[in-house]
Amino acid sequence: MSSVFKDAIDQFLYPIKEHLDDPGVSEIMINGPKEIFVEKKGLVYKTDSQFHNEEALLAAMRAIAQSIGRRIDKDNPRLDGFLPDGSRIAVVLPPMARNGTTVAIRKFSKEKLTLNDLISFGSLSKEAARFLDICIYLSKNIIVSGGTGSGKTTMLNVLGSRIPKTQRLLIIEDSAELQVKAEHVVNFVTRKADAERGISEVSIRELVLSAMRLRPDRIIVGEVRGEEALDLIQVMNTGHDGSMGTVHANNPVDACTRLETLCLMGDTKIPPDAVRKMVASAMQLVVQCTRMHDGGRRTSHISEILGIDKNGNYICRDIFRWVQTGKDPETGKYIGEMVPCNYIPTFFDDIIVNKLPFPKSNFLAPDWYNQKIKGEAA
Ligand SMILES: Nc1ncnc2c1ncn2[C@@H]1O[C@H](COP(=O)(O)OP(=O)(O)O)[C@@H](O)[C@H]1O
Ligand SMILES: [Mg+2]
Repeated sequence: MSSVFKDAIDQFLYPIKEHLDDPGVSEIMINGPKEIFVEKKGLVYKTDSQFHNEEALLAAMRAIAQSIGRRIDKDNPRLDGFLPDGSRIAVVLPPMARNGTTVAIRKFSKEKLTLNDLISFGSLSKEAARFLDICIYLSKNIIVSGGTGSGKTTMLNVLGSRIPKTQRLLIIEDSAELQVKAEHVVNFVTRKADAERGISEVSIRELVLSAMRLRPDRIIVGEVRGEEALDLIQVMNTGHDGSMGTVHANNPVDACTRLETLCLMGDTKIPPDAVRKMVASAMQLVVQCTRMHDGGRRTSHISEILGIDKNGNYICRDIFRWVQTGKDPETGKYIGEMVPCNYIPTFFDDIIVNKLPFPKSNFLAPDWYNQKIKGEAA
């Protein structure tokens, strides 16, 4: 960013500077000039910070929009974009935003979490992590599903970094969020249209089509949220096994339904039933990320998608689940663990054939969990 813009933005944003500079703050939420919340360690707090008035806040947003070649005004009352440091910003102006100019800034953190971090935070068990490693080694197609801020991108980054070195990855995203550690990676980012400067849009969908011609072993789509879903599903069904993406959904079956809906958004000539079958056969594993009420982000499910039953519903079997067993009375944090669900994945033979060290017993639930589900069933 040119320093002119930087100085202007610094000046306009001084009311929230301390939060921008605080590495412990992951998100800043502005609900009109007088109400500013921040997220720290997964929990949201109200701050004392305030903008002087609506005009000051609006001026700050204008300066930000300008610095990234966009506008925000009466005719363009919404802004979704990325700041030069990779932080994500979303703005809605009044009168649509009834609180006054409403903003969320998701700060970009350079420190990416690793698989070991997820294990030490209790988001993932060691066995589940090893199982995911094996699924990646076996080139299973994986969809990471979750709500906003549930840890999807983080999970995809971790999973992508486990891909065997010899393979060529093509990564496609809206902003350069993923930092997959691998040897042979090609990164693509989309471009937004800017009519004034005569710049045309380059969409995820177009980049997926190009990626397919660039000899990928695997394609990773950062966030699937439009017609590109159909292309990704086709990629997965046509020999680029081990492809991955994230989707916004609340549970593994929802993730399938969501992808199906997105596939049908384009003017596809494929009938809905056929699309459903394609989705079901493309998806092999769903890793569900959940941001729980205690602020903790956990891998709530790792599930296998088996196809469609005779009523046309997705068949989904949980392999691992995160189960809450209590709550810390002092911190309010949930206590719990990830347990296997007594389900042996259909590709268990691949694990044996490849001599991967993952015994069948790792899929068996501990006694306490068996007692618990017995109790719940009774
Ligand atoms: N398992 C986790 N434990 C703690 N923090 C996490 C975990 N996963 C992600 N985070 C943090 O949560 C925030 C949102 O994560 P992100 O992966 O961007 O979510 P999403 O892509 O679902 O919107 C980031 O600040 C990230 O570092
Ligand atoms: Mg994300």
